[in-house]
Amino acid sequence: MDQYVIKGGTPLTGEVEIGGAKNAALAIIAAAVMADETVTIENLPDVRDINVMLKAIEHIGAIVERPDRHTVRINGKYINTVNVDDEYIRKIRASYYLLGALIGKYKEAQVALPGGCAIGARPIDLHLKGFRALGVQVDIAHGQVIAKAEHLKGTHIYLDKVSVGATINIMMAAALAEGRTIIENAAKEPHVVDVANLLNRMGASIRGAGTDVIRIQGVQKLYKTDYTIISDQIEAGTYMYAAAATHGDVLVKNVIPKHLEATSAKLIEVGCELKEYDDAVRVIAKNPLRHTQVTTLAYPGFPTDMQPQMGVVLGIAHGTSTITESIFENRFKYVDELNKMGANIKVESNIAIINGVEKYSGARVSAPDLRAGAALVIAGLAAEGITIVDDIYYIERGYERFEEKLASLGGLIKKVSSEKEIQKFKLMIS
Ligand code: UD1
Repeated sequence: MDQYVIKGGTPLTGEVEIGGAKNAALAIIAAAVMADETVTIENLPDVRDINVMLKAIEHIGAIVERPDRHTVRINGKYINTVNVDDEYIRKIRASYYLLGALIGKYKEAQVALPGGCAIGARPIDLHLKGFRALGVQVDIAHGQVIAKAEHLKGTHIYLDKVSVGATINIMMAAALAEGRTIIENAAKEPHVVDVANLLNRMGASIRGAGTDVIRIQGVQKLYKTDYTIISDQIEAGTYMYAAAATHGDVLVKNVIPKHLEATSAKLIEVGCELKEYDDAVRVIAKNPLRHTQVTTLAYPGFPTDMQPQMGVVLGIAHGTSTITESIFENRFKYVDELNKMGANIKVESNIAIINGVEKYSGARVSAPDLRAGAALVIAGLAAEGITIVDDIYYIERGYERFEEKLASLGGLIKKVSSEKEIQKFKLMIS
């Protein structure tokens, strides 16, 4: 099993290039199969979850060509089954996007219930409620969602909770329904807009994505197009917070600063200097870090996917901070690991009370999930001494060449797979 070995204490400095948004890409790959023509997608992140999704659509007959690691051409004409189920797809949460895409196109789908990071109960009741409102008969049997409709009929749906996945999924199915669908209390995340933009480029008629009311006029068919995925706000935020925790100076390039507003605002509150450019953000973290309060919220609020990274920054900020996690109930699993590195954090229900310590000390920790894993790597880069992060499989689900990018910023980090390699790293840096 691969691990990261990290020698902390070096401020990160330099420039880092951000890739395409993983969570947008997952939905976009599903949406691409809705046409019988070739959809070309650029700025595709080359990470594990994406590759699982591509394999899944290939298994059901889609033609997938990868001219380079960041470009894919998808043609859904030869799809020969609507049954998507393999051991890999069960591991990723976004497998549910194949429901919306296949229901839209074939009025039928059979997809293994989603897995993903164990950060909470993560039901899909809102997705199913939306499909049912469109006229789909939905059953759950043998660990699969089985959906079938005679016709998809446009409808008016109010989502009881703001859900990114449900919004996108209903939008995909409704794109090929008869008549008009209105989704109220829709999620406003940038990737909802990105998927709507792609579908519109394919011939759909979707208005209002990015607001809380989305109106979709169903069309009969979707067509070929070329599309470039937006950059990943969470990958960007992760490097920004790594700069903060290591007291570095990093220019994070190829981003949309508007999408980073909540992430940036908190960095300024804790004492970092931020410079914004058209498509880059520079974080200068020369000053001591200060405490603050954070609550995760749906976009444009502070993203739950940045919560563990924020926890790591606040763990070494002066004073007492709190983080309230309002989206997922099980997102503090990094706290026990961080406490092993000398942090002083207590979790009470959905609030973490963080008493800042002067510094972390290197320890052996394991990544409990994707973002928590990335956060522990940041802690390792900030810590005194050597940190070993186990279970980096999770991190690789969502970060492309993570260790290479961090090393290019001066981070002393290496991916290893044996005790011998860890010893070699220690000798090399001593
Ligand atoms: C997506 C992201 C994930 C991010 C999350 C919130 C993907 C693949 N994953 O997850 O990285 O952390 O948005 O920004 O894009 N809920 C229900 N019923 C449902 C659906 C959701 O109760 O049918 C609840 C969830 O448990 C959670 C909240 O709604 O408490 C928001 O979840 P949602 O926005 O749907 O998250 P995901 O789409 O799963």
